[in-house]
Amino acid sequence: MEKLLINGGIPLNGTISCSGAKNAALPMIAATILSDESIVLKNLPYLQDITTMFELLGSMGCEILLNENMDFTISTNNIKEKEARYELVKTMRASILVLGPLVAKYGEAKIALPGGCAIGSRPVNYHLDALEQLGAKISLKNGYIEASAKKLVGAKIKFDGVTVTGTENIMMAACLAEGITELTNVAREPEIIDLAEFLNEMGAKIEGAGSDKIVIEGVNKLSGTEHSIPADRIEAGTYLAAAAVTKGKITINGINPNRLKKVIDKLKEAGAIVNTNENSISLEMLRDKPKPVDITTAPFPEFPTDMQAQFSVINSIADGVSNIYETVFENRFMHVQELNRMGCNININGNQATIEGVDRLYGAEVMATDLRASASLILAGLCAEGETKVDRIYHIDRGYERIEEKLNYLGANIIRLPS
Ligand code: UD1
Repeated sequence: MEKLLINGGIPLNGTISCSGAKNAALPMIAATILSDESIVLKNLPYLQDITTMFELLGSMGCEILLNENMDFTISTNNIKEKEARYELVKTMRASILVLGPLVAKYGEAKIALPGGCAIGSRPVNYHLDALEQLGAKISLKNGYIEASAKKLVGAKIKFDGVTVTGTENIMMAACLAEGITELTNVAREPEIIDLAEFLNEMGAKIEGAGSDKIVIEGVNKLSGTEHSIPADRIEAGTYLAAAAVTKGKITINGINPNRLKKVIDKLKEAGAIVNTNENSISLEMLRDKPKPVDITTAPFPEFPTDMQAQFSVINSIADGVSNIYETVFENRFMHVQELNRMGCNININGNQATIEGVDRLYGAEVMATDLRASASLILAGLCAEGETKVDRIYHIDRGYERIEEKLNYLGANIIRLPS
């Protein structure tokens, strides 16, 4: 297995561009299933999760072409298999995003149940309950979800809990349902707005995305479009945190700061100087040690759970004690054991991590456990004394495009070691 070898202690300095957002791209790729015509997607990030989603569409019979500008043309007219097999679903839970589009367009779908996941049980009951309310018949057999419907029919649906991919799945399905669907208690993440804009370009009639009520008027068909994937707010937030822990000074281009408001507020509270304009964010850390910041994760517009692990590192070298409360996932502190091996002083009690700032971190051999956990290990390696070797970096390649290239461009010293 490949590893990253990080020589720590170098302040990051310079300017980079943000890549396309994984969590915006995945539902858009799934949404192409709804279209009668080819769709062109631009600015797709080069990530393992995107490859997995293409593999999934390919296994169903879709045609995916890449041109010299790295734009993808996706044609889903020849879908034969309305199935997402376990081999693919187990590597990427977001495969569930093809459920709504398949049932809406083809009246049937067979999707492997995602099952357990490193950061918690992550069930899909909200997706299934809502799809049933649109008129789908759903059964669970041999580890698979089997769903069918002659024609979905619009309904008033209140989600029992806020779910990002659940909101996306049902929003997509409702586009081809008969009549009006009203979704409440929905997720308000920017990626929901991105997906709604994309679907509307295809001819859907969606209003209210970004608020807690989305209204969708079903249409008979959706058509082709050309669309560029917006920037990845979590990637941007991770690099800003990396600059904060290395006492660096960086600018990230291509990102709308409104998408990171809570993260920027917390970076400022930690003592970083953050300046923004319409399409970029700059951060400079002049303090010797960050100030400790308390964090509670929650659905957008609150602080994102996907930035929690990175802030564990900021707090670990801070001047005092802080608490992080994780309210979205029940088991998202797996990075803590590894961080403590690098000298962090973090104690977990249920969904609360209490972090006592230490004077310095030390390089060590550590193991990545999930996507954002691996980002925190890299951040720790960047500010630690000596060498850090991060194993199982396939987790990081799922969600960060060319991470060591981007960080090295900012002055870091990271080598990818072959397996
Ligand atoms: C998405 C993001 C992920 C992010 C998460 C929370 C994508 C591809 N992934 O994941 O990066 O960390 O949002 O912001 O966009 N739940 C249920 N039943 C369900 C669905 C969810 O109980 O049917 C629970 C989950 O276990 C979790 C919470 O709801 O505790 C939120 O999960 P959800 O918003 O669905 O996360 P994902 O969409 O999987």
